[in-house]
Amino acid sequence: MAASVASAPGKIILFGEHAVVYGQPAIAVPVTAVSAKARIQPDIGAPGGRVWLRAEQVGVDAALDELPAGDPLAAAVRAALDALGVGQPPAFRLGVSSTIPLAGGMGSGAAVSVAILRAVSGFLGHPLGDEQVNALAFEIEKLHHGTPSGIDNTVITYAQSIFFVKGQPMERLSVGAPLQLLIADSGAAAPTAETVAAVRRGWEAEPQRYEGLFAQIGGIVRAARAALAEGDAAELGALMDANQVLLQELDVSSAQLEALAAAARSAGALGAKLSGGGRGGNVIALVSADTSAGVEEAFREAGAAAVIQTRVA
Ligand code: PMV
Repeated sequence: MAASVASAPGKIILFGEHAVVYGQPAIAVPVTAVSAKARIQPDIGAPGGRVWLRAEQVGVDAALDELPAGDPLAAAVRAALDALGVGQPPAFRLGVSSTIPLAGGMGSGAAVSVAILRAVSGFLGHPLGDEQVNALAFEIEKLHHGTPSGIDNTVITYAQSIFFVKGQPMERLSVGAPLQLLIADSGAAAPTAETVAAVRRGWEAEPQRYEGLFAQIGGIVRAARAALAEGDAAELGALMDANQVLLQELDVSSAQLEALAAAARSAGALGAKLSGGGRGGNVIALVSADTSAGVEEAFREAGAAAVIQTRVA
């Protein structure tokens, strides 16, 4: 058995987070500047079936058998073995690492799952196809946060910009002109499970108001798809700002995220909003070649822990 390596990119949601859990569309793009990597080495001499997992960043260094069913890394390994009907694989060691900020809305969980599914199936000589990887990664997403829409695993598996509706085949986005985005990490970790649960409580308490907000977000997402196809950056920026107002109304923003977005706009960004679960994680800003450096500086002055540049093409 030869060694096997697989990686998967991060992602950001450009428009439509949270509402997408309730059936509205959302737009997400891969971010290749960051990635998760899974490396497998055969463990010559170890007893057959022995699988060792090491992921320093999350403090895992254990045999697969010792990890609980709810552990998402172990679940990804088991999902790959089950999908291939392999009860006892040749012994191997799996190392997982990632440059995607944890709990930051950049899809670290889904990227790790996709990388593991591909590395394990590749190691066993039967690489799983994208459709199967996507379906299995979706099941593992449920361990991360109960009721995922499936947008993270989809954009990351296909590494494509997508227009996504829960439960429907993904649609590749047409992009009329490349976009330049800055992603500012607020440094505040906010588990998506918590913000998704908070929105659910709000929706249960005030169904009509929340349904109205979700529908308005859906309208923004459809308008954004058209503006993207036309390459209309000014319109996209305005739509980002409008989406952010609605995210605030869903109560998933925070004073810190608002300050980051305001700083970006003052420095010339065409628009800015939180991305992902909110209450922490990232703020994204749409910039141009002329404004990029100034907005990056403004983000840092407003307290961003890190700023990543990415292009949507
Ligand atoms: O970017 P993340 O992983 O925080 O994704 C959150 C996106 C939500 O719409 C809030 C949840 C989901 O499953 O789509």
